Amino acid sequence: MKRSRNLVYAVLCFFVIALVACEKEEANEQESMTLDLPIIPFDYSSLNLPSHFTIDVGGQILPTSINGIDNTPTDNLITDDGATLGRVLFYDKKLSANQTISCASCHKQENGFSDNEILSLGFDGGLTSRHSMTLINARFYQRGRFFWDERASTLEEQVLMPFQDPVEMGMTLEQVVNTVQSQSYYSELFENAFGTQEVNEERISKALAQFIRSIVSYSSRYDEGRSLSNSPGANFPNFTTEENLGKNIFFQTIPNGGAACFGCHTTEAFVSANPGPQNNGLDVISTTDLGAGEVFANPVFEGRFKTTSLRNIELTAPYMHDGRFSTLEEVVEHYNSGIQNHPTLSPALIDDNGNPIQLNLTQSEKDALVAFLKTLTDNSLEIEEKWSDPFN
Ligand code: HEC
Ligand code: HEC
Repeated sequence: MKRSRNLVYAVLCFFVIALVACEKEEANEQESMTLDLPIIPFDYSSLNLPSHFTIDVGGQILPTSINGIDNTPTDNLITDDGATLGRVLFYDKKLSANQTISCASCHKQENGFSDNEILSLGFDGGLTSRHSMTLINARFYQRGRFFWDERASTLEEQVLMPFQDPVEMGMTLEQVVNTVQSQSYYSELFENAFGTQEVNEERISKALAQFIRSIVSYSSRYDEGRSLSNSPGANFPNFTTEENLGKNIFFQTIPNGGAACFGCHTTEAFVSANPGPQNNGLDVISTTDLGAGEVFANPVFEGRFKTTSLRNIELTAPYMHDGRFSTLEEVVEHYNSGIQNHPTLSPALIDDNGNPIQLNLTQSEKDALVAFLKTLTDNSLEIEEKWSDPFN
């Protein structure tokens, strides 16, 4: 009798201990998902660009400044609280169908907000049909259209599309709104950002767009040299001879011995100015991916894709819309000797005889061009806390 009572106690004790242990584990898990946000929000709203970004250099064919190319709409200016909310949404895995994927899964801070994989892994193990894109300097794309094929007409429209993509996050917008509503940490963030706790699609879209537009790069070795020089074409005192040679090749026109890269990757933000998507000679014909041709339902756009910013290009490998090149050396060799004669090939890449250009760069010139591209790396971007994961 006594023995069996002891046994009952022992069993009971075991359950109590197990229960306490379980509870503790649960608490730990919850704790590990808490948000780590500063009491005073980070500064996202003041754009502290060095003066070379906003002062045009005289006597150049193309504008160097970013004046007039910012695609921020007047009804969605960046606020510190708005971008803070955007940061939390950007890193929140609960916003995918099985809570495994966030925007940041495919736009990784350490990879220049792109993905180091050729194609990215969606929530259910599927692969995206194109290579992920960098989000750096998204605000300086004057046309304000997004995706490789430019199918989104604004950033506000774009940021809601990955949630609904059947491969990427697999949600409906209604599910996204409901999930956001049911997380206690969002009430205060919405109130700070928009004045009330109401959650809706428009607010989610605005906050995400604000966060992305805040990601701007301006403290690379290029910027250091540029701020000590009168123009991008001058010899930068902080550059090696090789880097200065590479810079000349990047900026000079082809008849002047350059490679005219600046013609398409232009301004101090190294983005494309108008006129929109270009064909940079990757293929002879377009077969599986028609690019902008499908979006604008017009064969003159076939094989044309958005020109991305080259800032931090060293971090965003692999390259191009299909991630076909794994190194900058391969990219440079493409422009040097690999341009294909596609019907929509950009006129900038066709020579006087109507053939695809051949740059005929020497090995040391190609090395120099790569060395220059690496001066566009801004290491602060990789570690800046305001753009990092706020969930611990
Ligand atoms: C599963 C991977 C994946 C996830 C998750 C994902 N993206 Fe993307 N993102 C991509 C790919 C791939 C592209 C290019 C697709 C294309 O052009 O067809 C892209 C393109 C973009 C672009 C276009 C950039 C430009 O310059 O045109 C933006 C902006 C963007 N994503 C933001 C987001 C946001 C915001 C989220 C979360 C709501 C998100 N992404 C979630 C893979 C992903
Ligand atoms: C006619 C316009 C044009 C010129 C000139 C041009 N590019 Fe590009 N560049 C593009 C386009 C368009 C893309 C995207 C193409 C794609 O993915 O289909 C691109 C993509 C790139 C990429 C990959 C970007 C990424 O995010 O994957 C790099 C690197 C690059 N170019 C470097 C250069 C260099 C270096 C030069 C000079 C030798 C140059 N470009 C000249 C239009 C141009």
